[in-house]
Amino acid sequence: MSVNTLIEGPVARITLNNLDKRNAFDDSIIASLTEAFAQAGNDDAVRVVVLQAAGKHFSAGADLNWMRAMGKLDAQQNRDDALKLARLMQSIDQCPKPVIARVQGAAFGGALGLICAADMAVAADTARFCLSEVKLGIVPAVISPYVVRAMGARQANRYFMTAEVIPAERAVALGIAHEVVPESELNDSVDSLINALLAAAPQAQIEARNLIARVSHGPIDQTMLDDTADLIARLRTGEEGQEGLSAFLEKRTPNWI
Ligand code: COA
Repeated sequence: MSVNTLIEGPVARITLNNLDKRNAFDDSIIASLTEAFAQAGNDDAVRVVVLQAAGKHFSAGADLNWMRAMGKLDAQQNRDDALKLARLMQSIDQCPKPVIARVQGAAFGGALGLICAADMAVAADTARFCLSEVKLGIVPAVISPYVVRAMGARQANRYFMTAEVIPAERAVALGIAHEVVPESELNDSVDSLINALLAAAPQAQIEARNLIARVSHGPIDQTMLDDTADLIARLRTGEEGQEGLSAFLEKRTPNWI
């Protein structure tokens, strides 16, 4: 199996495991990953999803044999196929559970899309990132909304056009990863994010993600004021908000822990 899902308590770990090709993904792996995210996202027992990879490298991105073979398909077939990768990225971005990417070694091309579509990423000091597409005569297309969101348009101009390798420390400065740690501490760092996520209210977390997406765009006008005011009014009077506020004031643990 090139994609394994292990659910332990509230944590689903989705693991890329295609070592011969450095965890590169083709149409079949894209389908398996999409299915794995749908399952974890719809499982009421799951609170956090970790996207990780077996072996030395996170992923070499899209399978270049598969990409080249697309040259034999017609335009519509090509588009339909590309849309499946776009949908995978969207299914990570909109997963109903928080998603952590755990990254070691190389994360090239489409792998950066998987990482930037996740809510947060922890990189080992061995991690290195590269938007290598222009070297192959293509562009980081379906991953671009997530990568540009993470690093910003001006930085993207540079790294999309130069395909320079980005070391882990710089990836943090660029917003690709949230922190870099020695590889031996990668699991501990992921665990501490998991623990922080488990201590917080699940619906509020997804509302928070959606809020960030909305306020990142558009003017701070009356519509935005109304939207943010409506949100806090709805959440603080809702079941989860009332429980969280009461738990704090009553010095007890909220019921989602
Ligand atoms: N698609 C298909 N096969 C890939 C691949 C990819 N994206 N990346 C690596 N492989 C294959 C290699 O062809 C090689 O196959 P072989 O054993 O049959 O010769 C095998 O994986 C090992 O690759 P190798 O380059 O020897 O591994 P490495 O550990 O020295 O380097 C990488 C790892 C990821 C840095 C390197 O493989 C690489 O740069 N890959 C291309 C990544 C890329 O540009 N992706 C963009 C996709 S849009």
